[in-house]
Amino acid sequence: MIGQWRQKLHIEPPSGWLNDPNGLCYFKGKYHVFFQYVPGSPEGEGRKCWGHYESYDMISWKFAGVAIEPDNEYDLTGVFSGSAVVNGDTLELFYTGNVEHPGDHDYITSGRDSNQIRVSTKDGREMSAKDVLLRNSSYPEYCSCHVRDPKVTLENGIWRMVLGARTLENEGCVLIYEGKTPDDLEFVKKLSVPGFGYMWECPDMFELGGNTYLSVSPQGLTHEEYRYQNVYSSGYFKVNVDELTDFEEFDYGFDFYAPQTFETTDGRRILIGWMGLGSESGYTNPTVDFGRQHCLTLPRELTVSSDGSILQNPIREIYSLRISPSELRSEQRWYKLPFDVVVNTVKPDEDCVIEIGKAKITWHNEGCLEFSFTDDKAAGGRTSRKVRIENLSDIRIVADRSSLEVFANGGRYVMSSRFYPEFETVAVSVSGFRAQLFELEIKNSLVAIGEALIDFIPDRKGCDFGEVSAFAPAPGGAPANVTAAFSKLGGNARMITQVGNDPFGDMIIKTLDETGVDTSAVSRTDSANTALAFVSLSRNGNRTFSFYRNPSADMLLSPEQIIPDMFDDCTFLHFCSVSLGDFPMRDAHRTAILLARKSGAIISFDPNLRFMLWDDRDELKRVVLEFLPESDILKVSDEELEFITGETDFEAALPKLLTGNVKLVIYTCGADGAYAANREGIAYAPGHEVITADTTGAGDCFIGAFLRCLELNGIKKDDLDKISTGMLKAYLAFANACSAISVTRKGAIPSYPTLEEVLRGGLLT
Ligand code: FRU
Repeated sequence: MIGQWRQKLHIEPPSGWLNDPNGLCYFKGKYHVFFQYVPGSPEGEGRKCWGHYESYDMISWKFAGVAIEPDNEYDLTGVFSGSAVVNGDTLELFYTGNVEHPGDHDYITSGRDSNQIRVSTKDGREMSAKDVLLRNSSYPEYCSCHVRDPKVTLENGIWRMVLGARTLENEGCVLIYEGKTPDDLEFVKKLSVPGFGYMWECPDMFELGGNTYLSVSPQGLTHEEYRYQNVYSSGYFKVNVDELTDFEEFDYGFDFYAPQTFETTDGRRILIGWMGLGSESGYTNPTVDFGRQHCLTLPRELTVSSDGSILQNPIREIYSLRISPSELRSEQRWYKLPFDVVVNTVKPDEDCVIEIGKAKITWHNEGCLEFSFTDDKAAGGRTSRKVRIENLSDIRIVADRSSLEVFANGGRYVMSSRFYPEFETVAVSVSGFRAQLFELEIKNSLVAIGEALIDFIPDRKGCDFGEVSAFAPAPGGAPANVTAAFSKLGGNARMITQVGNDPFGDMIIKTLDETGVDTSAVSRTDSANTALAFVSLSRNGNRTFSFYRNPSADMLLSPEQIIPDMFDDCTFLHFCSVSLGDFPMRDAHRTAILLARKSGAIISFDPNLRFMLWDDRDELKRVVLEFLPESDILKVSDEELEFITGETDFEAALPKLLTGNVKLVIYTCGADGAYAANREGIAYAPGHEVITADTTGAGDCFIGAFLRCLELNGIKKDDLDKISTGMLKAYLAFANACSAISVTRKGAIPSYPTLEEVLRGGLLT
């Protein structure tokens, strides 16, 4: 079910465990964040692999599946942390293959191999063979077996790898290797600070404002009242040739570790950290009950202050999400997460407080900023963290559904923490401060409700059912296909459905997850199996279906299971008619439409008629006509027009379609192109002549692409009847190009194109 406390702006795993950010980069038009991931276990029990998220704007992130898995003798017990280098059209990824041998070992001085491994990829997904660059025998003899987390850079033809390490004397250090290629790295030097922790993890070295910085995550620092308060620390040194000075912590809050940086094409250095710590931290995260744990910090822009210390601020992209500014008061007011608070003036002579739910940020006038909880049970055992600040000038707080990041003095001091308010709306009050709050609005997703099922595709075309000898399973169902098409084109999509507690249910969830579709609103049930549909493609090219839904899990999804959270960030709600039969799912649709309308979404209806599912065609017609006026966008195909309207001509049928809420009607004629009509007139865009491999799901691809195109063009509900015919023609052309690509490939979901494929595909002219 919809995950409680799911973050809106922060990267969280779809399910399972997350720790360090890895392989941060901008590559081929997208930001990529890989991360330490254990898909099956929210407690992180199991072998680490690299999960993968992608984004066009660092605001909305899409899960892109598991990128690297432990699968050979060099990384058998874990694909540990590492980094990325963009090298022309190739992305080079570097990580530590961790191998723990069975036996009586301490795993510090024996029993552990730390292999530094490279894989390359052209698209961030398809990986080359693994190439071991360094192994235990490559490290200086004073090293223990703990040598890991390669941060690699390529500058002026020199590849440089910085590794975190622990010596046999229990001293934390970094090892630097260099070479003309990644295959001939030579040890150059060790950097360390005597007595400063026993192990340094996740190093990073970068230039900023003319200085060189070394960032490390040291373990074993002695905890103090105002410093090194967490179980493990994280911070940066200034590097002066071989001297490391002025260690500063990146973050004084409860949850921060293992950050990494990268540079954007516009020259910004961005830092992302793990907003968490291991179980040794002593506090807990209730998201475990919902099958997942931990998130990353917001991407933070780094700059340098006049004294050479690093300033961290939330990426500027956040500003574009700000809506409804309001002045905060001393009496409590309620605001919906996520939001952004700017504290612009501080009364110098008194303690000042801002309270957000049970979190309290207090400026103690003697020079200490404190982040505490009024009820530590509400924050998984987190109590108080403090930082010394001589003069407080300003504070900025970004609050997401379950985290707070506090930036003080222009980002010079940062305090981050998870927090778990009961509701999405929290009470906020200030005293002594003057502060402004902006709610952050992220509305960019398509929510589809209806069936997700397994299509069984015949091994032969052009024959009747009885002649087919094998059927291959392919996850589908029209609404699920639409989420997949939308998601592959870079949009955020969420599927609302129900599947059985059976392997086909697993298959559907896995396919949608891997396509980047949010499956947090996919329920499971023991009461029925996942729906199946066997397809045969007869001689005349027509499809025949044989459905196994008597009933199936999706049909039993009830209105009580539909909750407002599911529509929170929703721009479109899409549905079809297969799920509108006389069973609980029909009422679930009614509830979904109500809630989506309440959240301002555009309702889109593609009847997608399947006559064989209805004993009584009149009943089908009655239901379609009942739901039709509920939609803002209606799509009908040439095969459906007459059944729904009694007319064979689109123009003649229009008055019967542009009724109720309907503002835009789309009429698809397969390869003959598509029409769209609104108050402005009728637009037409021709289809494409392509070599057809499989038309399954082509209509779903069309509507998914059309809706994504509306989103990309910023079309709001009130614009639908004002879009000019010229623009409508362009949107239809985009959707035609997408479905033309999809029919040249086999299957439904696997055949859908990415945005890059459409733009490069040459069908848009
Ligand atoms: C830091 C760390 C890294 C290691 C990874 C394993 O949190 O211990 O040193 O590569 O996590 O998940």
